[in-house]
Amino acid sequence: MSIVYEETSGVISLYTRHSTYQMKADTLGTLLHTHYGGRLAGDDMSGQICCIDRGLSGNPYEYGRSRREYSLDVLPQEYPCFGTGDFRTAALRVRNADGSQAAQLRFAGCRTEKGKYALEGLPAVYAGEAEADTLTVLLRDPATGLEAELRYGVLEELDVITRAARITNRGTAPVVLEKAASASLDWQFGRYDWLTFHGRHAMERNLTRQPLRHGVQSVGCVRGTSSHQYNPFTILCEPAATETAGECWGMCFLYSGEFLMEAELDQVDQIRLVCSIHPDDFAWTLAPGESFQTPEVMLAYSGEGLGRLSRIFHRVIREHVCRGPWRDRRRPVLLNDWEATYFDFDGDKLVSIARKAAGLGMELFVMDDGWFGRRKDDNGGLGDWYPNEEKLGCSLRELAERINAVGMDFGIWFEPEGISEDSDLYKAHPDWAIRIPGRAPCLARNQLVLDFSRREVQDHIIGQLRGVLSGAPIRYVKWDMNRSISDKFTAALPPERQGEFAHRYVLGLYRVLEELTQAFPDILFEGCSGGGGRFDAGMLYYTPQIWCSDNTDAINRLDIQYGTSFCYPASAVGAHVSAVPNHQTGRNTPLATRGCLAMAGTFGYELDVTRLSGEEQEEVRRQIERFRQSADLIRTGEYYRLCAPEEGCAAWEFAAPDGSRALVQAVFTHIEANPIPVHIRVRGLQADARYRVELTDPGAIEDSALYKRWFPAPAILSGAALERGGLTLSPPWREYQSWEIQLRREQT
Ligand code: GLA
Repeated sequence: MSIVYEETSGVISLYTRHSTYQMKADTLGTLLHTHYGGRLAGDDMSGQICCIDRGLSGNPYEYGRSRREYSLDVLPQEYPCFGTGDFRTAALRVRNADGSQAAQLRFAGCRTEKGKYALEGLPAVYAGEAEADTLTVLLRDPATGLEAELRYGVLEELDVITRAARITNRGTAPVVLEKAASASLDWQFGRYDWLTFHGRHAMERNLTRQPLRHGVQSVGCVRGTSSHQYNPFTILCEPAATETAGECWGMCFLYSGEFLMEAELDQVDQIRLVCSIHPDDFAWTLAPGESFQTPEVMLAYSGEGLGRLSRIFHRVIREHVCRGPWRDRRRPVLLNDWEATYFDFDGDKLVSIARKAAGLGMELFVMDDGWFGRRKDDNGGLGDWYPNEEKLGCSLRELAERINAVGMDFGIWFEPEGISEDSDLYKAHPDWAIRIPGRAPCLARNQLVLDFSRREVQDHIIGQLRGVLSGAPIRYVKWDMNRSISDKFTAALPPERQGEFAHRYVLGLYRVLEELTQAFPDILFEGCSGGGGRFDAGMLYYTPQIWCSDNTDAINRLDIQYGTSFCYPASAVGAHVSAVPNHQTGRNTPLATRGCLAMAGTFGYELDVTRLSGEEQEEVRRQIERFRQSADLIRTGEYYRLCAPEEGCAAWEFAAPDGSRALVQAVFTHIEANPIPVHIRVRGLQADARYRVELTDPGAIEDSALYKRWFPAPAILSGAALERGGLTLSPPWREYQSWEIQLRREQT
């Protein structure tokens, strides 16, 4: 058992392979947080807490009569409450029936179980009985009877700890939850950097790293989805932490709605990190006896830098968040018609693209937006999920069969949460669109959002999609969502409960996703929200991959995929080769470089392949062949960031867990005369094994004479030489040049 509870001292320790998480119920019943970091050997860490009279930081009544050095305002705690003497940002804030906002939770017992708890209706890490243990700590407010059950999942081998809280009203009057965090973490010592991931449509998940300053700093969103603007993932690390050294802590929210992540550096230089559903858009009424379940947070600690921290998250997301048969399957090489045709297609055009794509080795044809209802552009039609047979020139089944006949599987796009005013659905159910009565709603892409908090709306969409998916041989679904939710209101709740809407919407979305993914387990679902506007671990519980960004420019993708890699595995990153000049930036990049970026994800194409030159077709064929050879390595290998994009050359690597192979990809973003070569250290190899090092496709490099001069591959080098000595990459002789280097262990 990875959980140890010592009843006499009140110490509870959670052990993973390389970390220990510790809390302690003290004599007053406060649940202190005493350690999260490197693995301990059975010690009680509460001795580190230095109690000093902090002046205007007050003392609990039963303690403060004789002494003044015990204050909730400075003590590290597991689930700090608002209103009773801790003036820092809180995990729990309530409004009691008398209007007061106070709560104070005291330890009331704990229990442990084998296996990992699940959360009804919410995504959660799952694991077998032998892979995880669960701790449940019960806290109670003696004044009101309010209870909090803190749940901890300990995945020992994976070095992951999960947290979630369940709040129950055991009193006799209603209580309103105004903030209910999933987790709160306190550090007593250390000055740290805070890493967050900000962005905008088509430029998601840019890394920001800055020292924590005094006060509360936060990222979050109230847009209905987890958003392009801030990702629900954050890291705290030592200022000197690098990819390979230093202490780091990561917090990942398994939630696809509005969130808040706050970091506070307090008056005595302690740090608190809190992750919750965004309280600005949340007020949940609990009648006596009712409970509220928070979503789950995953925590990980690395004492060996950011690279290891990312690999912990990659593995847990890949193997214990993503589900279904596609979790472990190589994903098909797809062709998506969006950037090939936009809305301008008919059945014949799609079939001719599919025929060419199949000839090049592609396996799945995805018909994107524009196939249904009266949708001729992005101004109308959403909600009418029946095929436009006039446009397609045949039924959906016939089209899918025609695509199958040329040798490709068939996939399709939906935006199930969207509704256009110009649609049959809106005519029939105008009240199903989210808007506030008496107020003109904010439009975005000229569309509204369906009220997924309502059961009848969920049932209608489940029925519609079931009909389409069972009416034709469909192997793939792209689940899109193309606007933020404003004007929040639901006809299904009374005025005093409108604060429940944003979370109920997400619960409704999860129900629809659960029903459909369970009903069609063999369909590969890909999430999407204007690209990467809902790229979170909650969605990955339902869709094992997500379209990473609407930006397909290979050079912009370096930044986007770099930022994404801090938490999310390559197997989740939807990435396609598109045409040049690029449709978002107008930039020209070599086909080989576009291939590199797409291969560092799920790999596919999004262009009109009938327009490729003969030479390009040959290169695409070779790319697909190469992808097939490396697909398993990319999907399940250990991911290493070797050079960050701002260094002028972005480089990364996939290494087989057994050290037998590795693939290094590098893209130069900067070209100059009299250049300085780039030096990388290859990671994850066996020091004493010998590796054959070669370019995967020398044919894709225009000037192979130059290439030979700079890079006398194939070379045979030891793992020690490649990691400790490194590998020099020849500087580019063409803008946006890329290198793809394969390393294979030699048989001894
Ligand atoms: C969103 C998606 C795109 C495409 C369009 C279709 O922007 O992110 O990939 O599907 O919608 O309208």
